[in-house]
Amino acid sequence: MDKLVVLPALLAILPLFLILKLTFSWWVSPIQKHLKLRRCGFGGPPPSFPLGNIQEIKMKNSVNSSHGSSNLTHDIHSTVFPYFSRWQNSHGKVFIYWLGTEPFLYIADPEFLKKMSTEVMAKRWGKPRVFRHDRDPMFGNGLVMVEGNEWVRHRHVIAPAFSPLNLKAMASMMVESTNQMIDRWISQINMGNPEIDVEREVVATAGEIIARTSFGMKGQNAKEVSEKLRALQMTLFKTTRYVGVPFGKCFNVKKTLEAKKLGKEIDKLLLSVIKDRKKSSINRQSQEDLLGLLLRGNHQVDGKKFTTRELVDECKTFFFAGHETTALAISWTLFLLATHEDWQIQLRDEIREVVGDKQLDINGLAGLRKMKWVMNEVLRLYPTAPNVQRQAREDIRVDNLTVPNGTNMWIDVVAMHHDPTLWGKDVNEFRPERFMDDVNGGCNHKMGYLPFGFGGRMCVGKNLSFMEYRVVLTLLLSRFSFKLSPGYNHSPSIMLSLRPSYGLPLIVQPL
Ligand code: HEM
Repeated sequence: MDKLVVLPALLAILPLFLILKLTFSWWVSPIQKHLKLRRCGFGGPPPSFPLGNIQEIKMKNSVNSSHGSSNLTHDIHSTVFPYFSRWQNSHGKVFIYWLGTEPFLYIADPEFLKKMSTEVMAKRWGKPRVFRHDRDPMFGNGLVMVEGNEWVRHRHVIAPAFSPLNLKAMASMMVESTNQMIDRWISQINMGNPEIDVEREVVATAGEIIARTSFGMKGQNAKEVSEKLRALQMTLFKTTRYVGVPFGKCFNVKKTLEAKKLGKEIDKLLLSVIKDRKKSSINRQSQEDLLGLLLRGNHQVDGKKFTTRELVDECKTFFFAGHETTALAISWTLFLLATHEDWQIQLRDEIREVVGDKQLDINGLAGLRKMKWVMNEVLRLYPTAPNVQRQAREDIRVDNLTVPNGTNMWIDVVAMHHDPTLWGKDVNEFRPERFMDDVNGGCNHKMGYLPFGFGGRMCVGKNLSFMEYRVVLTLLLSRFSFKLSPGYNHSPSIMLSLRPSYGLPLIVQPL
């Protein structure tokens, strides 16, 4: 056929094709999915396509900023997730909501979660593709996001990095970095300024700790990766974006490009660390930090090594996951201790008894029982990982309901940790003693307390975070007392993790 005829015909068909594609992905397909979920028995707030329920979710920001109060309540669910709190009132603890054209099954019912997780083993769970795509500059295809046999392979190589022997080797680096922070604080206090933004300080120190303990990085490189990750986090989570809406990235091109650029800069920095390690003799001495293990990383079954892309993604994943959550747990602890002086004194007494004037002995830290109750209670009231996500990779049957293949799941940890039907009337009070004789803190369902997730995909760095928590707090409480600064504004918010929106200024006094 004549080119002169074909080309105009194609140009005429193209807009028609685009209109059909848009109509299908914005309206036909989501409405089909919506009807299917209704037939499966799930209710929820009515979506309007193509945005789903994003408009209602966005309303949260205006409510929060107009309040800006200094109210010290620990009843935070309706502050950090006002839309879930509202929808729970009308639709219960399990319902469907929509991010654009992506259905999400909201779960705040531990019994439902238990039934579902007995049906599906770790390797058969998916992670929401819509988030994997959106958060690619931050996690790539690292352990948090990878699925199936690849997840088994990655987890198998990585888990030994957190063996007791390796953890012990990390302890002295933790002490060194924390002591440097303490020295900084003392100089600042000596200059007459006892108000310290403890959150900023602890996050920076935890970044340094993970950089040194897992990747052997020091100084400027580590600082740069930490700072760029923080900037990336702000870019991705500070504003509401249109995740789940087809072509949603086009609504916020500036932020999308900024995130991509930061992601690439972080990759470049980490790549140079990997290259240096490959060249260095340290690797030949079979150093067992995380990077050493990743580089040796032969999987027993298939003998496959990590590709350079996989190495970079794992380093990024661990850099972020390995410092932010622990640092925020320590920060929320200092906030709660600053407002509960009795517990500050009890912990200091315990440290005196267990550690005394001796050098910090890692084996002895396990004797800090009250500190463990405090950590558990802090992670109950302020779970620094405020939700857990999954995606169904098959139809899942729960009683007479079916969760269809492809449905995303959002498990609301904050809601479960603040649910009076699970914890009793004192649910919003800081009472570490509830963990004295019960690892589940007296919760009346064993899946109602999930600070580190659940099942085979439970947090791989849990023991490292316990150790870091004890080391840092022991050193800080042995040197200082803490009071809340009058400038503190209590406004916990979600920026992937649960953090104080305006930092955590405390008045720090040397003992
Ligand atoms: C207080 C500190 C921490 C909290 C509250 C926390 C919380 C969590 C949660 C809730 C999950 C999701 C589990 C699930 O999907 O079921 C998770 C997974 C993960 N965490 Fe942590 N975490 C902490 C510290 C750490 C540290 C120190 C590291 C690394 C050094 C780390 C690395 C990871 C990784 C890589 C995963 C993905 C595991 C997998 O999917 O196999 N986390 N964490």
